[in-house]
Amino acid sequence: MAFDFATPIERRHPEGGYASQKWHRYDANVLPLWVADMDFRSPPAVIEALSARVAHGVYGYGEVPATLTETLCQWSAYHYDWHIEPEWQQWLPGVVPALHFAAMVLTEPGEGVLTIAPIYPPFLAVAERTGRLAQQAMLAESSAPGEPWQLDIEALEDAITPQTRLLLWCHPHNPTGRVWSEDELAQLAALVERHDLWVVSDELHCDLLLDQGARHRPLAAMFPELAKRTITLWAPSKTFNLAGLTSACAVIPDAALRKRFVAATKGFLPDGNVLGLVAAEAAYKEGEPWRQALLEVLRGHRATLEARVALWPGVSLSAPESTYLAWLDMREAGLGASPAQVLLERAGVALSDGEAFGCPGFVRLNFGTTASQLEAALARMDVLLKA
Ligand SMILES: Cc1ncc(COP(=O)(O)O)c(C=O)c1O
Repeated sequence: MAFDFATPIERRHPEGGYASQKWHRYDANVLPLWVADMDFRSPPAVIEALSARVAHGVYGYGEVPATLTETLCQWSAYHYDWHIEPEWQQWLPGVVPALHFAAMVLTEPGEGVLTIAPIYPPFLAVAERTGRLAQQAMLAESSAPGEPWQLDIEALEDAITPQTRLLLWCHPHNPTGRVWSEDELAQLAALVERHDLWVVSDELHCDLLLDQGARHRPLAAMFPELAKRTITLWAPSKTFNLAGLTSACAVIPDAALRKRFVAATKGFLPDGNVLGLVAAEAAYKEGEPWRQALLEVLRGHRATLEARVALWPGVSLSAPESTYLAWLDMREAGLGASPAQVLLERAGVALSDGEAFGCPGFVRLNFGTTASQLEAALARMDVLLKA
């Protein structure tokens, strides 16, 4: 079945009817390649399931359908060879809330929450927002243009103190797109055990591995001994472009840990978004052909971007192995200390500023858009960056 990833879809409605953060934050002449949602319609099966649910017309309090939890069990077994149980799943309205609840449940005020930068900005805010001690290590930078960033296990070890209780881990990694190697994950698992840490493994981008044949391994599945100390966070939101429907899932195999987590969320989170849950089920049940087609499109966009960056002196791209986010080193591009700001003001392209990820001088570019929009944005960037 052919899916349309090429026709631009109006998201900046003159009356704001589509209220998109991505398209409304900046002036109408700016091309937005920043926040992580895609400019594509969700799979037809999702749209059909939502339409049917909307037509029902009654939107009272819902519950998580058993058909959804079973569908996620099947998805996990089929794609990741991880045989999870329905009762391990705690559905909630987002991954970011889950990061915060995890910190509150797994640590005491003043204890250390460790993250590794660069990282998706909310990771850096969790400790402060929950009254915990923020601890941070850096990844090892690319050794040469185009080479991947890597886990620096010694830097991580050095950042650990007796206060450290929790590691917030991103797998695959936003913003570098890294799909961690088995060796890196084994080093991480050993460190977690050695220091008796809890782990939140944010695996939100795990269904979007770009290399042919690449397969995600959930941390808790790869190292079963870690399962009792791990909360795995999944959602259909990135894969199937459903972020606005706020449905995510914390997979918590350990019953005692799950009980504590669920208790902490009571009163702070709504019961569930009936439309989001319907969309999630349809996506996991019927969205696979669409996901495969999407991956082809994203591979093409990644190649387009790589070819273009090669023409920009002083700019390098750590080739993303997953998702639709590209992490560009612009420190030598001649645009000064805030390249994202310069590109916004002088090229009319909105990217995410690396500073928010803990790395000034870098930018993150979202290529989850139509080929024509990507080309238009790159052409604007050419004016400032091409030799
Ligand atoms: C790694 C990661 N975690 C969490 C989120 C946000 O998840 P949610 O919208 O479910 O809170 C994002 C969004 O880009 C992300 O990249």
